[in-house]
Amino acid sequence: MDTQSREHSRKRLVMGNWKMHGNQAANTVLLDGLCAGVTAVPNCDVAVCVPFPYLGQANASLQGSGISWGAQDVSRHEQGAYTGEVAAAMLADFGCAWVLAGHSERRAMHGETDQLVADKAAAALSAGLTPVVCVGETLDEQEAGRTKDVISRQLAPVLALGASSLARIVLAYEPVWAIGTGLTATPDQAQEVHAFIRARLAELGVPQVRILYGGSVKASNAASLFAMPDIDGALVGGASLVAEEFLRIAAA
Ligand code: PGA
Repeated sequence: MDTQSREHSRKRLVMGNWKMHGNQAANTVLLDGLCAGVTAVPNCDVAVCVPFPYLGQANASLQGSGISWGAQDVSRHEQGAYTGEVAAAMLADFGCAWVLAGHSERRAMHGETDQLVADKAAAALSAGLTPVVCVGETLDEQEAGRTKDVISRQLAPVLALGASSLARIVLAYEPVWAIGTGLTATPDQAQEVHAFIRARLAELGVPQVRILYGGSVKASNAASLFAMPDIDGALVGGASLVAEEFLRIAAA
């Protein structure tokens, strides 16, 4: 048990999702800032998911820093004639520990289905990566009271991977209406969904899976979210692009 009065033993994970931001010069500033500051947050795993072209830069800059890195998407296929796709083994080749699967922007803009997301998670696991499987409802779905139905549907093919696979993944609850909007689920709202997901995992014998919250997480709201018993960290978009802000979230 660490000093954060955690009610459980899951180590907190704060992961940045840079989305389609950055260039080599800006990344150097950001990565150097993260390396310089990360020693101040020893009780938290810190990671960044960068665009594919910058995996080499992350691999070079973050070696030995204690910060791990990953990608934002992965092919469901192992290799072959899949122009434009990137295989999990290629990510592993660049030292990735993580890969996002099923971020809502990919579900919405690239037609990713629940099954495809689960296939991507399985592909990541096969290459020794930890998939961070994202789920979350839209505003319409939330207003219609369908949040848990949507989460259940999205989770079904992922849960079907079975306990031994589930024990090696991370889940992220990201209500679509809270992503990039400045709207955050209240800690109680988020906790309710996290507890729901935790119960499903517990039924399968894997209650220890880490469940991150994502959607407009900032240094100013991180502590109240992290105080919730089933929130094990955050997936951070916009606020991960400034080293100081991102590390303040990790320290929250
Ligand atoms: P946001 O993005 O923190 O900018 O809302 C979160 C995400 O999309 O992972």
